[in-house]
Amino acid sequence: MIELVDINRHFKNGDETNHILKDINIDIKEGEFIAIMGPSGSGKSTLINILGFIDRGYEGDYLFNGENYKKSSDNHLAEIRNKTVGFVFQNFKLIQNNTILENVSIPLVYAGMGSQARKERVTSTLHDVGLFDKENLVPNKLSGGQQQRVAIARAIINQPKFIIADEPTGALDSKTSKDIMELFMKLNKEHNTTMILVTHDRKVADKADRIIHILDGRVQREEVVK
Ligand SMILES: Nc1ncnc2c1ncn2[C@@H]1O[C@H](COP(=O)(O)OP(=O)(O)OP(=O)(O)O)[C@@H](O)[C@H]1O
Ligand SMILES: [Mg+2]
Repeated sequence: MIELVDINRHFKNGDETNHILKDINIDIKEGEFIAIMGPSGSGKSTLINILGFIDRGYEGDYLFNGENYKKSSDNHLAEIRNKTVGFVFQNFKLIQNNTILENVSIPLVYAGMGSQARKERVTSTLHDVGLFDKENLVPNKLSGGQQQRVAIARAIINQPKFIIADEPTGALDSKTSKDIMELFMKLNKEHNTTMILVTHDRKVADKADRIIHILDGRVQREEVVK
């Protein structure tokens, strides 16, 4: 499903250029659960920005189901991103002035769905992530683990092909982390949603099928977990 071929990424910094990703070759199959590990600054977020159709300033080829979107218009790429990938972040990135219903609805609004259909889809998706009767609250009335469930509901509401999660358990205690990982594993198994999860936590990474270790912008090694 995902094929990265000889990806390199440079960033200009004044008159010097930094080589951040180096000769990256990665294949990810539909339904896989991948963890990405590596020290701070090794290039993990840079890599997932490419995977998530956010960054196109790389050299090499990114093929998604055989298609290369490098030369697509910004609008087309945004459309592909909205229907293909769901994002989950360490700090949830919910809109604090909006209700849970409004937060989770955002991708459906972009997709042009009407309000009644949106409401039904949100209610059933919140149910899927284990949240009930929270639709009309604002995010800060919820615990960290509940807020991350809201973010996951927003990520899956368009039934994406894959989820990118950058340190999704980084702000959570160990019990809550475990619950969130179980939710990701359930979504992976029941909906065959491909998972790409960045983590510093070996216990979290051990839940994946495969761990890709990044060091200084390179794939240092790949490890099959189970
Ligand atoms: N837009 C950018 N412009 C210039 N340099 C960048 C940019 N994005 C990332 N970098 C540089 O690329 C390197 C890798 O950054 P990246 O955010 O990918 O690391 P990371 O592995 O995600 O680290 P962390 O674990 O701390 O999140 C860093 O040196 C960073 O400064
Ligand atoms: Mg990062």
